[in-house]
Amino acid sequence: MNLIEKAIQIKNQALEALKKVVVPSSLEDFYNQYLAKKGEIPGLMTHMKEAEDKAAYGQTVNATRNEVLDAYMSKKAEMESAKLNAKLKSEVLDITLPGTEEEIGSLNPYWMVIREVEDIFLSMGYEVVKGRDVETDHYNFELLNVPKDHPSRDMQDTFYFSPELLLRTQTSASQAHKMCEMTEKKPIRMISPGKAYRRDDDDMTHSHQFAQIEGLVVDRNISIANLKGTLELFAKKMFGEKREIRLRSSYFPFTEPSVEVDVSCFNCGGKGCAMCKGTGYIEILGAGMVNPKVLEMCGYDPKEWSGFAFGVGVERVAMLRYCIDDIRRIYQNDLRFLKDFK
Ligand code: PHE
Repeated sequence: MNLIEKAIQIKNQALEALKKVVVPSSLEDFYNQYLAKKGEIPGLMTHMKEAEDKAAYGQTVNATRNEVLDAYMSKKAEMESAKLNAKLKSEVLDITLPGTEEEIGSLNPYWMVIREVEDIFLSMGYEVVKGRDVETDHYNFELLNVPKDHPSRDMQDTFYFSPELLLRTQTSASQAHKMCEMTEKKPIRMISPGKAYRRDDDDMTHSHQFAQIEGLVVDRNISIANLKGTLELFAKKMFGEKREIRLRSSYFPFTEPSVEVDVSCFNCGGKGCAMCKGTGYIEILGAGMVNPKVLEMCGYDPKEWSGFAFGVGVERVAMLRYCIDDIRRIYQNDLRFLKDFK
């Protein structure tokens, strides 16, 4: 056998051996045996000196090397893609399997009412102001024209931390804050939702903590017509286009005159039903023209400025709107109750 035949024999051996390779480690062995620097095919070159026809031998060795290398490379690629396919197959996700159900929560009706009222007043150009739960006697009472001997200052009604510090009994404290904070006295249009606290025995309609949404408008030439128009628009947006409002005379120390605002019953349309106790109207908020004394104490000259204020009871609106019979449900976080509001 001459050298050329020998080279061809090695090539055939190598190609045969390659066919039998199935695992990556034997592919590596194969490479080392035939193709690596010290492998059999490069080794053929060492016989060059002995070859009769050096050019023909050189060509044969080169062709052998190329052919075996090509075969090796495609085997390698084939094995790698087989490996990748096996991995993909083993990691395949069965997207038809039912998953574990996530419970999606819902807003408490309390927040539904607050957000809705906020949206209505934001659309009318009001700003939403954050108040504070812990207040001073000064903001909660004094600036709101609640005199020292007023019964609401009684230990029976207010949670006191000290004679000066208390849990606010009404969000109206935010009115006083807002007016006092205005270093440059400018018009105000704000609402301020938040909690208020009173010493009350909890029952179906009373809670020692509850939420109110305070509203305040201060500008030049504000009259009770502005109050009525604003609250009528609010009632229609909140309770339906057909609603009408009715003002009844009332008393709050920080408004003069003061009114109680009723909205025509959204259950019976005003004919009289159980919800409106046959009267056709439901009381929804307290309001009034800002008392000039309050304006003055908060730095607004009542000769130049006037305004109106109102306070909406959040739970009351939520209870009426969603037919909730017991105010405590709003706080108990019973999922069976909350799920009804999805
Ligand atoms: N603060 C009053 C209350 O708690 C409600 C109110 C607010 C009345 C603003 C008039 C103006 O009953």
